[in-house]
Amino acid sequence: MAGLDEDRKNRERADGDSPHSHEMVSIVLHVNGQAHPLPVEPRMTLAEVLRGPLGLKGTKVACDRGACSACTVWLENEVVASCSILAVEVGDRPVTTIEGLTGDRSLHPVQEAFIAHDAVQCGFCTPGLVMSCARLLADNPHPDETDIRTAISGHLCRCGTYPHVLRAILALGKTEGSQHE
Ligand code: FES
Ligand code: FES
Repeated sequence: MAGLDEDRKNRERADGDSPHSHEMVSIVLHVNGQAHPLPVEPRMTLAEVLRGPLGLKGTKVACDRGACSACTVWLENEVVASCSILAVEVGDRPVTTIEGLTGDRSLHPVQEAFIAHDAVQCGFCTPGLVMSCARLLADNPHPDETDIRTAISGHLCRCGTYPHVLRAILALGKTEGSQHE
């Protein structure tokens, strides 16, 4: 029986699972201007908590390993891959997801520009791209092509929308007096 027990423990280690990983921890996540007290497993990523308990499914998970940027959200004023940060690591830092980007508008200017320039196909990468482009414009209202290419360089779009995204954000950056945040 000792051998079976050892096998089980080895399997749990290999899966990244442990008897302690199911213990819940109480945290308060500040998302889109609202405080959410909730219990989470210490191993849960921010993306899992956003999409699961908080029901914010606009944040997409594709690779789940920090390689595609589909899951991009803002942590304070930085873009982060929410699949690569644990929810328990977020602390008091405010999180903004695609649902919280628009404020009281129906669409953010970046979303309007994506529509106008046909920068959406299947749409799976789109929320992440919008979050990165909106952050870029908030920090730099008139980005040039290099700025935009750098901002979206971590995003994988299998549909190949990159030229359209580039045109959309270049056009938006040229819009006089546009409010991007
Ligand atoms: S799903 Fe997070 S980087 Fe790919
Ligand atoms: S629009 Fe389909 S993956 Fe980007």
